Amino acid sequence: MKKTGATSPLPRWAIVAIAVASALGASMLGRSASQSVTPSGCTSIQNVPVTYSITYGAAVQGLFDNFLTNGGTEGCVDCHTAPPSAGGLDLTDGVSWSNLVNVPSAADASLKYVVPNHPEQSLLFQKINCDTPAVGHRMPLVDGPLSTEQQALIYDWIAGGAPALTTNTLFRDGFDIRGFDQ
Ligand code: HEC
Repeated sequence: MKKTGATSPLPRWAIVAIAVASALGASMLGRSASQSVTPSGCTSIQNVPVTYSITYGAAVQGLFDNFLTNGGTEGCVDCHTAPPSAGGLDLTDGVSWSNLVNVPSAADASLKYVVPNHPEQSLLFQKINCDTPAVGHRMPLVDGPLSTEQQALIYDWIAGGAPALTTNTLFRDGFDIRGFDQ
């Protein structure tokens, strides 16, 4: 798998910050139609162990369905349901993957929700990782933020190619996408 950021000596948060800043630079330098701001208040997830094998339905959709870890129930899907849904984004089971992967944001079409292999370019990750994302508020809008483990799960799923089924375990054999954090 081709990974341009993987051999960088920079910690992941720095790569995210640089990538997002450069992605947004154009809008700050004159594309006045865009409402995007440089994200800030982003949580470090570098101490969370990597999850190599992530099954979308069980893990990612499971988080969308209920992200509480205290036995209660609160889902992204409580707001992000069938249209007209919050933020124009339906995250319910069966449609969430195709609404996210390679799909431009309803709030700023220059940003995609999920860019496979590139969590640092993916608005979905930024929205759950940063207090002030490029557009709108940090998610979930209530009962947040997500735990660092949940944030890292989204990161690792995207870094693993954001498949509709299960991320493979290729990196177990040696090359570690998050090894540069250590
Ligand atoms: C209480 C309602 C609510 C909950 C719960 C919620 N959201 Fe949102 N979400 C919104 C609203 C309202 C917006 C639009 C305003 C904004 O972006 O701040 C939005 C926007 C978004 C966007 C950006 C849409 C766009 O095109 O810019 C994403 C991505 C997102 N939410 C993901 C999530 C995820 C993932 C969760 C669960 C971890 C979640 N949301 C939980 C209400 C909610």
